[in-house]
Amino acid sequence: TGVITLDRGFKNTGSCSSSITFLDGEKGILRYRGYSIESLAEGADFLEVAYLLIFGELPSKEQLHKFHTDIKGESHVDEDVKKILDGFPKSAHPMGVLSSLTSALIAFNPSSVNVNSEEDMYKAIVKIMGKFPVLVSWALRKNQGTPLNYGDNSLGYVENILKMMFKKPNEEYVQNQVVIDALDKLLILHADHEQNCSTSTVRLVGSSHAGLFASLSAGICALWGPLHGGANQAVIEMLEAIKADGGDTKKYMAKAKDKEDPFRLMGFGHRVYKNFDPRAKIIKVAAEEVLNDLGIDDPILDIAKGLAEEALSDPYFVDRKLYPNVDFYSGIIYRALGIPTEMFTVMFALGRLPGWIAQWKEMRELKEPIGRPRQIYTGENDRPFKTIENR
Ligand code: CMC
Repeated sequence: TGVITLDRGFKNTGSCSSSITFLDGEKGILRYRGYSIESLAEGADFLEVAYLLIFGELPSKEQLHKFHTDIKGESHVDEDVKKILDGFPKSAHPMGVLSSLTSALIAFNPSSVNVNSEEDMYKAIVKIMGKFPVLVSWALRKNQGTPLNYGDNSLGYVENILKMMFKKPNEEYVQNQVVIDALDKLLILHADHEQNCSTSTVRLVGSSHAGLFASLSAGICALWGPLHGGANQAVIEMLEAIKADGGDTKKYMAKAKDKEDPFRLMGFGHRVYKNFDPRAKIIKVAAEEVLNDLGIDDPILDIAKGLAEEALSDPYFVDRKLYPNVDFYSGIIYRALGIPTEMFTVMFALGRLPGWIAQWKEMRELKEPIGRPRQIYTGENDRPFKTIENR
């Protein structure tokens, strides 16, 4: 009621109160439940971070063991879902496959839709934590045209993901500790980021009590766009294009600054971070380590570093406070791990899953009302209707 304030893109509108993730864009601080992203990326594994985000505290060994056991108990996906997968063309974008199959899970798990108790909620959460990695691996295998791999419940959460993605023909990735650690770190860095576009989507869809899987499927679609999670794919495609075009970074810097040219420097800029993106700092170092450890010399890393150096001293980027974001370097690591470019945003979704779940759970627990923004109407006033013969 009262005066409606217009805030395009919700730049200054808080849509909820939340105790999950703290972000200070001026100082470059990111904390999950009060723990710095740096300390979690260094000392925790992805499943511990998922538990922290979803339940609010770091787990004890027993709590983590129970959570993992419950997830493993839900790590099968109905054979009929495979038929849906079979129906997609190989050329289907893996993000489309992932969101469709996540929606399809609703039909096979109807009990996950109406969550009316803490127990129902817990069941829905472990179900999706168990089944989502399977869908992710299927999206990759479909994209590659390779047969599906079964998981192995004796492995850790992240190792098992690697096994389902790569066992045959890329066996070596499954056991390589450098690869496991790098993926763990990437997933942790992507695990939550307060009220970004996909998380706001998950909350908005969930606010109508549509159910967790439906809300997640919508969140995946929101993440897909190149201004959000799709930027990681767009960054590598941009770096490849620059390389193919002779490596002239200055030419692309000029394009990015030209207001007549729609080209943007992908992986640069952020709605909230205005000094640096703390995730990008961690990822840049990790990218160099992973490439070193795996003995990979990727010329694209040099182009990326060159672009970043030029941008950081260019008045256009400095004045607008545009810095490399998390997606600027993540694709370089995914490439080194043997993950195809079209799968990058799927990997982001895999990392963001616990954040989406935590935000959805908090929204339901706080009994948030249905999300329903208002508008400033700019259309015609009352007009007399004319039948089609009289127009
Ligand atoms: N290249 C060139 N100019 C840019 C860029 C860029 N990447 N990003 C912003 N600008 C300019 C923009 O043109 C505008 O200039 P002016 O004031 O002269 O009109 C100014 O900077 C402010 O930009 P904005 O679009 O109003 O800012 P926003 O907060 O609405 O958008 C953003 C944020 C991340 C969508 C945007 O910076 C962008 O498109 N970046 C490239 C895509 C990208 O890397 N996205 C990943 C974000 S991090 C991970 C995630 O959230 O998924």
